[in-house]
Amino acid sequence: MTETAWELPKTIGIIGGTGKEGKGLAYRWSKAGIQVLIGSRQQEKAQAAAQDVNNLLGTTGKVQGMVNEQAAQTADLIVLTVPFAAHAAMCETVKPFVQGKIVIDVTVPLVPPKVARVQMPPEGSATRQAQLILGDDVQVIAAFQNISYENLLHDEPVECDVIVCGGNREAREVVIRLVEAAGLVGWNGGPVENAVVVEGLTSVLIGLNKQFSIQNAGIRITCIPGKKDLSD
Ligand SMILES: NC(=O)c1ccc[n+]([C@@H]2O[C@H](COP(=O)([O-])OP(=O)(O)OC[C@H]3O[C@@H](n4cnc5c(N)ncnc54)[C@H](OP(=O)(O)O)[C@@H]3O)[C@@H](O)[C@H]2O)c1
Repeated sequence: MTETAWELPKTIGIIGGTGKEGKGLAYRWSKAGIQVLIGSRQQEKAQAAAQDVNNLLGTTGKVQGMVNEQAAQTADLIVLTVPFAAHAAMCETVKPFVQGKIVIDVTVPLVPPKVARVQMPPEGSATRQAQLILGDDVQVIAAFQNISYENLLHDEPVECDVIVCGGNREAREVVIRLVEAAGLVGWNGGPVENAVVVEGLTSVLIGLNKQFSIQNAGIRITCIPGKKDLSD
């Protein structure tokens, strides 16, 4: 993998962005002034989702909706927010349009109905599956798997950090800055092999949500000197 110096993206394309997690991220990044393109299999559904987010933002036309392929082609950086059952096929669909780019993979390899049980694919994780499909010219980075959409669609501080794994160090740094742009705390979690930890942690958090009848259990990295605590 090449050690490119990556720049912050001007445009983010969210594949499957009509869903709960995608709309939450679109809201957060759009609020931070980044141009967001919501992707869908259907143009009309993408436009309706973009309208929903624009309504939340109190603006018109800021977030745009389009089919996934067009969002992947137009955006500088791509985010994948689709159910795991659609993950491999969606990676194949966007593959021609994401070469040379960073792809943030938010997908958790949940296998219903036992979603509180870790069930990784043979590749080791969804992120590694995406990296194998998309190839070495794409920096696939795992992030946001532990952030419930419930935490994203409002402006309150989020009591959950984001561990960022995969790709090279420079690409992870770009994603950490996007985590911060979304109002969250991000950490360099190391190489793609570590993505199994953040993806698996989601099942643990889902189990805790069930035990305590809540929707947004989270995790926090502690005792790191000099890092701002957004819960203060
Ligand atoms: N929800 C959360 O709080 C949360 C938190 C962390 C991580 N995640 C992960 O983020 C991903 C998205 O979660 P979500 O809750 O936003 O999911 P979702 O609402 O169920 O689905 C997101 C979008 O994926 C597209 N999609 C669904 N089935 C598809 C298929 N067979 N082929 C292609 N596209 C399909 C749909 O878009 P179109 O119909 O418009 O094409 C849908 O709006 C999942 O992997 C999930 O595990 C979710």
